[in-house]
Amino acid sequence: MRFVITSFLFFASCNLLVAQSIAYSQVKPIVDAKCVSCHRTDGYAPFSLERFDDLKKRSLFIKHVVSTGYMPPWKPNNHYRSFANDKSLTAEERRMLIEWIDSGCVEGKPVINQLGNKYSSGSQFNRKPDLVLQMSAPFEVPPINQNVYICYKIPFELPNDTFVSAIEFVPGNKSVVHHASYQILAVEDDVNVNAGPAYFMYDADTLNRVKDDHDYRYFKLIGQSGAMPIEMYHNGWLPGTSVQQYPKGIGFHLPKKGVLLIRNFHYSPTAIPQKDLSKFYLFFSEVQPERKIGFAAFKPKNPTADGKWYIKANDSNFTAYINVKFHNDVSLLNINPHMHRLGKYFIAYALTATNDTIKLIEIPNWDFNWQEFYRFQKMVKIPAGSVLHAEAIYDNSASNPENPHNPPQDVLFEWGMNDDSEMMRLVLLYLPYQVGDEKISLE
Ligand code: HEC
Repeated sequence: MRFVITSFLFFASCNLLVAQSIAYSQVKPIVDAKCVSCHRTDGYAPFSLERFDDLKKRSLFIKHVVSTGYMPPWKPNNHYRSFANDKSLTAEERRMLIEWIDSGCVEGKPVINQLGNKYSSGSQFNRKPDLVLQMSAPFEVPPINQNVYICYKIPFELPNDTFVSAIEFVPGNKSVVHHASYQILAVEDDVNVNAGPAYFMYDADTLNRVKDDHDYRYFKLIGQSGAMPIEMYHNGWLPGTSVQQYPKGIGFHLPKKGVLLIRNFHYSPTAIPQKDLSKFYLFFSEVQPERKIGFAAFKPKNPTADGKWYIKANDSNFTAYINVKFHNDVSLLNINPHMHRLGKYFIAYALTATNDTIKLIEIPNWDFNWQEFYRFQKMVKIPAGSVLHAEAIYDNSASNPENPHNPPQDVLFEWGMNDDSEMMRLVLLYLPYQVGDEKISLE
């Protein structure tokens, strides 16, 4: 069990104010909004907090984790930039929850329809998915006590082209599913998406060199013309990430024939055999999106001539940078910083041609276990001529409790995708800018 005490700001709220007692009906909306997306039957967290009894039973533990700021997990500095999918408690919400616990978890008038039916579909939305794309057969995770990485193909054929406004990854076996990055691909007419194998397992070598053409050929996704599949969408799931949803009129085009390719599906080490049957929920848009979401993943430039770039053992301040110039006006929707376990700090901002700073994100205490596709509250305009700067700092010393090596070792940087190597990515979901975008709410 990990306890990461992230902030001292929260101590102020642990006082003994019990003047007027708070009832369950007042704290339930807070818990529903800030905890239940993970703490529900079939949710990502190990237990549900949907009912009064669930909360009462764990109340002292809950008081502890909300006072220390360990729960809900939320890593960005909200003073730098706040986000639409912010899961953190406001000071007032935290105070109410603690006060309710301190005053003995009063039930008050029973809350009718405690569970509601918000999650009855199994989705984080109060809506049945329009399409479920599931692995064709359970993947048997070998009990080898090592990370396992696979590439998995889920084919689909629909009566018509459609448009998607939200997509949600639903891990099958929470004890081993670690992360997934995926693409939705359109293929040529003459490709049989059901032909070819369903998956392959990476070995150390293939994992270090993921190549589109190799994977597309392997899964028989290249048509007679030799044309490669076309990427319609690209995203990922990490523990703690919320569903990806877009405002009206924005989304992606789902071709009537194609595949969802989980390019990098990572399972945690297990000593006993485990099976996983993960799936994706897709929610169609009512209207055809006029605007198609773009996806950009940036990485730092390798300064070494031989391609090998290391974070030396005991270097507690290794820093990498991304600098990218924008040639067109764009509107940012989402931002996702990514590092592995040596990461300790991440910041990203844009500097406009007139030297204005557009703050994007700061993560003061990076935690590999809690990552997110952070959604801006409103679209953020980055004018042409701006330079995007990002800085990532890594701690490869023994004082980093997440260091996978004890004692610390030299670690390859920007080479491979496994947990023992390190990397820096800044992923952006964006649209070409249109007048008025900065007023469009993404809440
Ligand atoms: C993003 C998903 C997510 C949200 C939101 C979330 N939790 Fe959790 N919570 C988890 C997971 C996963 C665990 C188990 C792993 C761990 O303890 O790190 C957990 C563990 C806990 C634990 C046990 C801590 C321990 O060390 O065993 C408590 C208590 C808890 N959560 C309470 C809450 C409360 C109260 C809220 C809302 C105010 C909340 N959580 C919001 C995912 C979440």
